[in-house]
Amino acid sequence: MQNIEAYQESFLRYLEGFTVEKEPKNLYEPVNYILKLGGKRLRPVLTLMTADIFGNKAKEAMNAALSIEVFHNFSLIHDDIMDDAPLRRGKETVHEKWDLNTGILSGDAMLIMAYQLFENYDPSTFQALAKLFSKTALEVCEGQQYDIDFETRTDVTISEYLKMIEYKTAVLVGAAMKMGAIVASASEEDQNSIYDFGRCLGIAFQLQDDYLDAFGNPETFGKQVGGDILENKKTYLYLKTLELGSEAQKSNLVKLMSSTSISDAEKVEKVKSLFNTSGASNAIKLAVKDYTNKAFSVLQTLNISEDKKQMLQLFGEQLMNRSV
Ligand code: IPE
Ligand code: IPE
Ligand code: MG
Ligand code: MG
Ligand code: MG
Repeated sequence: MQNIEAYQESFLRYLEGFTVEKEPKNLYEPVNYILKLGGKRLRPVLTLMTADIFGNKAKEAMNAALSIEVFHNFSLIHDDIMDDAPLRRGKETVHEKWDLNTGILSGDAMLIMAYQLFENYDPSTFQALAKLFSKTALEVCEGQQYDIDFETRTDVTISEYLKMIEYKTAVLVGAAMKMGAIVASASEEDQNSIYDFGRCLGIAFQLQDDYLDAFGNPETFGKQVGGDILENKKTYLYLKTLELGSEAQKSNLVKLMSSTSISDAEKVEKVKSLFNTSGASNAIKLAVKDYTNKAFSVLQTLNISEDKKQMLQLFGEQLMNRSV
């Protein structure tokens, strides 16, 4: 077992060899741009860690880890188009730096590259990885579609929201870990438990992402703060304000979200203040803790040593307390 930073470093070295210059430039430059833009690399680290935990197979899991990170970055290019986002990891988004068509096609190429990386495995591992990948990638599409559908709906429930974030975000975290377990030939029971651990952690992660989208520090967050508010996203903060707020707060929120007569900055500030006064900000913090603890209780069902459980728990705690 290595520590989290060591997994990150060995992944970054491997990524360096993957991001080589190729023609046509307008297809591959954006691919290398987004992949080298930074980011936390949490999904590939989870794949490597899991492969080590179940069989000392971090090195063998490198292509699976890369596949997950390439897929994740593909989904970010297309997500930024869909969310009309100007900033990613503190830099211009691909469709802003190039254009919409470039974002679409470079994204498509990355989805194929992600799949292609499984060719490095023997037939039975290839099949297991490809099967999990296809299921997960389709679920991410479904989650993304719900996310967009909810923008124009006014009757979204918390349980619909939870399903949406499970699909758009959490299943990929679960799959990242399950792939590590597949490469390490873990038992099916352990494969499923580690998937569930990742899935719960992924839900906590997206709740925290919603929180940071509104309350992150613009200097360090790397994305446009308030982007979800401006895009009319039905986040946990929004839905909880409608649940916990007074009648005046609720009608104020609905009015503000559809208002075109105030500036973006004013809208974001006013909506954020409603998130705070209604109790929604506190509620989301509790929900992050709740899903992180759910993940930790799944951890106890795994057939691994205590120190390995502690390492995964540490990872979860760091995720819960992140600011980017
Ligand atoms: C952003 O994921 C997209 C979400 C699912 C919230 P990350 O926050 O992991 O993005 P990077 O890769 O670290 O930039
Ligand atoms: C992103 O959700 C989920 C996927 C990219 C599939 P968000 O739209 O909340 O992610 P950010 O906030 O732009 O990173
Ligand atoms: Mg987005
Ligand atoms: Mg989005
Ligand atoms: Mg977000």
